[in-house]
Amino acid sequence: MVQYSDELKEEIRQANDIVDVVSQYVTLKRSGRNYFGLCPFHKEKSPSFSVSPDRQYYHCFGCNKGGDVFTFVADIEKISFKEAMEMLAERAKIELPTSDDPELNKRQYMRSRMYAINADTAIFYHERLYKPLAKIAQDYVKKRHLDNKTLKAFKIGYSGEYNDLYKFLKAKGYKDNEILATGLVNKNDRGEFIDRFRKRLMFPIMDVSGKVVAFGGRKLDENEKVAKYINSNENLVYSKKRHLFALNLAKQSDAKNIILVEGYMDAISLHQRGINNVVASLGTALTDEQARLLRKYSEQIILSYDSDGAGQEAIRRGIEILEAQGCDARVLQMEGAKDPDEFIIKYGTAKFNKLVENAISLTEFKIKMLKQKYNLDNPQDKVKFLREVTILLSKIDNSIEREIYIDKFALNYDISKDAIYSEVNKILYKKGKPKEEVLDKKIPNLSKEGEENKIDASVLKRENMIIYLLVNNPVETYNTLIEKISENYFKNEHNKQAFSIIKSVEKADIESINKAISNIEDPDFQNHISEIMLSDYEITSIDKCVEDILSTYNKSILQERKSEILKKLDDEKVTDEEKNQLMKELNDIIIKLANRK
Ligand code: CTP
Ligand code: MN
Repeated sequence: MVQYSDELKEEIRQANDIVDVVSQYVTLKRSGRNYFGLCPFHKEKSPSFSVSPDRQYYHCFGCNKGGDVFTFVADIEKISFKEAMEMLAERAKIELPTSDDPELNKRQYMRSRMYAINADTAIFYHERLYKPLAKIAQDYVKKRHLDNKTLKAFKIGYSGEYNDLYKFLKAKGYKDNEILATGLVNKNDRGEFIDRFRKRLMFPIMDVSGKVVAFGGRKLDENEKVAKYINSNENLVYSKKRHLFALNLAKQSDAKNIILVEGYMDAISLHQRGINNVVASLGTALTDEQARLLRKYSEQIILSYDSDGAGQEAIRRGIEILEAQGCDARVLQMEGAKDPDEFIIKYGTAKFNKLVENAISLTEFKIKMLKQKYNLDNPQDKVKFLREVTILLSKIDNSIEREIYIDKFALNYDISKDAIYSEVNKILYKKGKPKEEVLDKKIPNLSKEGEENKIDASVLKRENMIIYLLVNNPVETYNTLIEKISENYFKNEHNKQAFSIIKSVEKADIESINKAISNIEDPDFQNHISEIMLSDYEITSIDKCVEDILSTYNKSILQERKSEILKKLDDEKVTDEEKNQLMKELNDIIIKLANRK
């Protein structure tokens, strides 16, 4: 029986994102930081199965099953842990050593030799940087203000001449075919072995776990007519699109976001100055794989690309890729320097942090790009600019988000809010189908069997919370909640029923309420109530909680009216005059909604 190493296990784990794997079996919907769905391990009607992309862990609050990607596959496929590993390895196209497959064993062995060569090479280059023969590199790192701690943390080095590395690796006992497989040494026509990187400043590229998988080398003499950077080619252990420079360090940061830069020097320079949540995409366009990798470690990603014109399109594509993976992507705007390295050296850490704080969203970024196209002092241009912006704003699917941007935009460009609202509404209305949507994705709620009855997850949670508060803390909440909320508000039938039972109790104390609730014999109802009572709502202040519930309640009343109006506007039977009236009401509602926050 083959035993798989811990290293291999980690590699398989990293290559199988738990959300992707679970999604093959369970329909998951995102809500906040986590995903939810119906538990595949026990029968249930409302989702209590949750998956955390950050922690790469799942848990069912119904049946209490939980674990990592391996236990999930083992459980659901009813196979052993080892078989689950094999299945996931296959899924990620990672080859496993097997005793009866010599070819596979060979490749696995080769990978381990390549990792070893890379590790030894990093040390070789790094130690070489401190030798007298490395004066040119030492002068260069001084010129770039890299301190010794940074040189150590990033294992920065100086490559040899001609075949210095080859000789070193041979002396260490590595075989020619192993050395050639890393691409660190090439064989020329005459059969000589020549180092790929010569007289360059060397940056080892590490994977998330800190293993060296490749190198980048920068030229030291600006006048020399050679490429500024050369990098390792892709090979058995290195795939460019799957790695991000410095992620092994950035993942340890407890910052609430990750900053994405283009260059080695940008990442290194920011780290040295205390900004440790930085990774570099190394000049290439961001890939889906990299975005998914980033999303694992942070929801908010700040793009800090070079401020040249070419960067703009890269930024736009980058944000779209990040948002597709569920990231909240922002753009850092920089003036007075061509890249983050130059900026932080010139203006310091505090100023850079300010830029991070002020990073803007995709919509704001697009508006900014439009602004550059027009001369806003020219009235005709201004009209065109406004028209393009309203088109842009009307494309934002989420109504609340749209309202926030309209507000911001009106303020920044000193234009009347109402004017923008009615322009945007015109576009939405003309499109025929005004989209009305809710913040969170829908989760099917099957409490009413057979019916196409879908309730938004956050709405359901809020309803549940109301019932929870009324049952557990009637003294503090009964008067406010019962008075201000109408029974018709509840979308879930059981919640509606519970609410009216609680409303009709003679004495609003815990005992009477519990008694009234437990009098209902319907098992579905009891099941629903027990689920609510067992939920962990993390309520720190009841007052705040009530306040929040009421504010959302009022908002949802407005939103419902808004949907109603939008539907009517689409109705051919409604007269133009009525429509005008409705339009006015709609604008009022939207402004009210926007003014709430
Ligand atoms: N790059 C590359 N090959 C090149 C130029 C750039 O691979 N010929 C990659 C490198 O990963 C580089 C990144 O693109 O770090 C960004 O390029 P650039 O902004 O030119 O590099 P910096 O890291 O800013 O390097 P420096 O400040 O030393 O010029
Ligand atoms: Mn630079």
